[in-house]
Amino acid sequence: MNYRSTLVTLLAASAVMMASSAAIAKDKMTLYCSPQIEWCQLVIKEFQKATGIEVAMTRKSSGETFAQIKAERKNPKGDVWWGGTGDPHLQAAEEGLTVAYKSKLWNDLRPWSTKQAEQANMKTVGIYMGALGYGYNTELLAKKGLPEPKCWKDLLKPAYKGEVQIANPNSSGTAYTTLATIVQLFGEDGGFDFMKGLHKNINQYTKSGSAPIKAAARGETTIGIVFLHDVVTQVIKGFPIKAVAPCEGTGYEIGSMSIIKGARNMESAKKWVDWALSPAAQKLMPQAKAYQVPSNAGVQPPPEAPKVDQIKLIDYNFGLYGSSAERKRLLSKWDNEVKSLPR
Ligand code: G6P
Repeated sequence: MNYRSTLVTLLAASAVMMASSAAIAKDKMTLYCSPQIEWCQLVIKEFQKATGIEVAMTRKSSGETFAQIKAERKNPKGDVWWGGTGDPHLQAAEEGLTVAYKSKLWNDLRPWSTKQAEQANMKTVGIYMGALGYGYNTELLAKKGLPEPKCWKDLLKPAYKGEVQIANPNSSGTAYTTLATIVQLFGEDGGFDFMKGLHKNINQYTKSGSAPIKAAARGETTIGIVFLHDVVTQVIKGFPIKAVAPCEGTGYEIGSMSIIKGARNMESAKKWVDWALSPAAQKLMPQAKAYQVPSNAGVQPPPEAPKVDQIKLIDYNFGLYGSSAERKRLLSKWDNEVKSLPR
């Protein structure tokens, strides 16, 4: 074969390759993911396998993702916001940042999941549920001779100065759930007095909600205020961590999922929502060491998961604490009256 015919053959071959790659150009979508990264990566891998849709993903905490979607409202870049606490999803729905979609799996969902959707005129839906609490490092606690905490109010003891970690409620849904829970348990004034007292014992406000219990596992803080399923993740990983469901009772989250208004890949977004509510998707949770209660009634949480029906749960007012006005009000009051205080 001479030079010219080789060139012709190569050109023809590359033309065929280009044509065939155009023919199999894949559907795609962009996912804003708020739970732990390992779970985000696993669901994306399995969704891609099941549908062939390519997913680009950004992982950010619930409050941060809400702020990003709001900032991008004139030029939306994401298609679906998957996971994270439900309050900012409800706020996004109220502010018209997300769109209504009733999945064909509706009848398979647990009541708290559909209730969340109905509260938002179908602009979000519950994908998991989990109770709030805290965990502590048993070895550090013993080494420091600290008392065993059992209640929310125990965390105010001067002995725990510098021993407690929680996220910042502006960025983190976990910490916002804590703030709203404390206000519901102790009233507005009592709740803010609690948050001010707690502030004295806080060693760091993290960005992500589950960071404090990872820090406790590494021995960097004694106590971390997080969801109880995030405590279980560290226990399963073999760290000396113990979970506490506070004696006064506690709040919980309805982890949610919403399609972003103006999504560029609307068909893929709807396929994601249907798939994410299916047993196939929700059965993946333990594989990612995610121990929330799944919203598909056909999927049971594994035995290691916190037994939420045995925990004293408050009747968390999602309508109020997921409303735009109340979430803004509580966060700015926390910034002005708690975060600004010396420690
Ligand atoms: C962890 C929990 C989730 C929760 C999320 C909120 O990943 O496992 O159940 O929804 O935190 O994250 P954030 O960083 O917003 O507190």
